[in-house]
Parts: sequence; structure tokens; C-alpha cells
Amino acid sequence: MNNIYPANSANITLASEVIRKGGLVSFPTETVYGLGADVYNTQAVASIFEAKNRPHFDPLISHIADIDFLPTYAQTDDRVLALAKHFCPGPLTFILNRTDNNPAIDLACSGLNKIAVRLPDNPIALDLIRQSGVPIVAPSANKFKSVSPTTAQHVRESLGDKVNMILDGGPCRVGVESTIIDVTQKQIVLLRAGGTAVEEIESFLGEKILISDGDPNKPSAPGQLLKHYAPKKSLRINAVHKKENEFLIGFGDVKDADLNLSPSGDLKEAASNLFAYMRLADEQANDKTLAMSPIPTTGLGLAINDRIKRASYK
Ligand code: TXA
Ligand code: MG
Repeated sequence: MNNIYPANSANITLASEVIRKGGLVSFPTETVYGLGADVYNTQAVASIFEAKNRPHFDPLISHIADIDFLPTYAQTDDRVLALAKHFCPGPLTFILNRTDNNPAIDLACSGLNKIAVRLPDNPIALDLIRQSGVPIVAPSANKFKSVSPTTAQHVRESLGDKVNMILDGGPCRVGVESTIIDVTQKQIVLLRAGGTAVEEIESFLGEKILISDGDPNKPSAPGQLLKHYAPKKSLRINAVHKKENEFLIGFGDVKDADLNLSPSGDLKEAASNLFAYMRLADEQANDKTLAMSPIPTTGLGLAINDRIKRASYK
């Protein structure tokens, strides 16, 4: 069965009907492809966890199409609204105190009293949410722990027929997941580095945010496991030189790279290529193991380093 549909307006309408009937639709966002369901439908939310083999203690993000929707299920304040106005739509997820106790939302939030919400910067995603008439709860559309999908084909390879429809909107522009910040306390805490650079948030706020640095003693999102986003082959990171039996994913001016995330050293380009190149490397490396050049830790480099550290975890 081919469940990939070009994301034209007739197919987006069809997909919104699937959502309203409790089905699963994979759709593009600016970060990665999501696996979406109606946030108010308990069975649909449960089937997301099933399709991904995802443990129920790992909560999901709700996707909305309009900031005005925030107060209907979460507490907001002036700072949250100012941040949302500036950064949304875009790759930034807010963790807020939840005000809606609907059982399906309870399941989506893994019973936590906080909810994750974001407004994606992709016209197909926004149209789908609007036509569905409900917020769409969506994790990345891949099996638990594996590499996130940045094309419709990746979704098909990972989830097959477990998803009713895959809307094909081409490759994702940003390529790494959204940045997640907990804004429920005075000091904002970074729970996951992602597509919005921390420096940008700090410069907008005029204050520092608390960064967890992968330190297990500091707070992070519940699903942030040590091994995650993993290619099938082992991966050595910060590889300054390529070893004999290695397939090198380069960054910047690297002569012997087998693939290069960005020959010019552009972190945005590298982020958008990251997951697709990890998959390609898995396919092309034959009996070699994988290595990756060092990536700077500024801007989107923080998100890239977070992903590759987890991908290389043994
Ligand atoms: O860019 C993205 O954020 C993509 C696209 C599809 O929107 N979504 C995504 O979802 O990356 P997922 O499920 O793969 O990752 C969501 C992360 C998990 O680490 C989860 O633990 C965290 O968000 N999260 C969700 N709700 C939370 C909550 N109430 N408190 C803390 N962390 C939460
Ligand atoms: Mg994910």
C-alpha cells in the first residue's frame, strides 16, 4: 500500500477528515515530520504510542495553529505571550502549566500537570490543524529511539502502514526538532536544544536561561534518553582524523569526508542534513563504522551536538 500523498489542498482536507475520525496522519513541519492525532481523542492518542513503540511516560507535544488557542488549555502570562509573539510560528516548544484535564490530554501529557505546546512554521501543518478544528498532538514520526524523519519516505520506512496517511511536503527546512523551554518558573529552563538557538531566546529576553547540558542531575524532557536518534552502526563523534575502517561524515573543510553536512561550515545547513545523512551513512558505509567531524557548540550546533552525543552513546 502506498500511503504517501502529495500535500495539495484536496489531500490536506482528506487528512483532516482522517484526524477527525481518530486516525493517524504524518505531516511535515519545519523541523521534522510529525505523527499526528486529535488531542481530544483518547484512542487516537493511545495509538500514537503504539505505532511508535513509545513508552507512556514520554509525553507528546500539542501543535496549534493560533497563539490565541493557548489559554484554552494552559496558563499563560505576559512573558510567554511576548515570547510566542516573537518566535511563533517557529521551532520553539513551550512547557506550560496545564489547565485542561480532558482524559486524552492527560494521556498525551503522560499524567504530568504540564503541557508542551508549539506552533509549527509550515503552511501544510497549519492548514491541517485549522481544517481538523482541533490541536494535533504529534511526536516525531519514527520508531522510538531511532533517527527522526525529515522526508515522507523516511516516515514510510520507519512506520509503514501504521499511519493512515503521510502528507508529502518535501524535505524539512530546519531538520532538527524544536527547542523546548519550561516557562513555568521565574528562571526559564532549556529542556531540549533544537531549531531555535538559545542565544536568540536569551537576547530577546535579556536574561540567561538555565541549560541542562545533558547532565543527568539537571532537568531535561522526560523522553531525553542517553541513547536516542541512533543510526544502526556505531558512531564516533569529534573525529578530527578519519581512521582506516571509518566512514566519515564531515563538517566544514574536511578533505577525506565520505559525506559532508556542510562543506562551508554552515550550522543551519548541517542541521537540515543531519538525520538524512545519518540514514545515508548507515546505507553507504558497508562494513565500516561511522565517524563525525567536530561540530561547534554555538547556535544550532548545540542541538546538533545533543543529537550526535545520544546517537553515539553505546
Ligand atoms: O520539532 C518537534 O518538536 C517535533 C515536531 C513533530 O513538532 N516533535 C517532537 O516530538 O520532537 P517528540 O515527541 O519526538 O519529542 C517531544 C519531547 C519529548 O522529549 C518529551 O519528553 C518532551 O517533548 N515533552 C513533551 N511534553 C512534555 C512535558 N509536559 N514536560 C516536559 N517535556 C515534555
Ligand atoms: Mg522524537
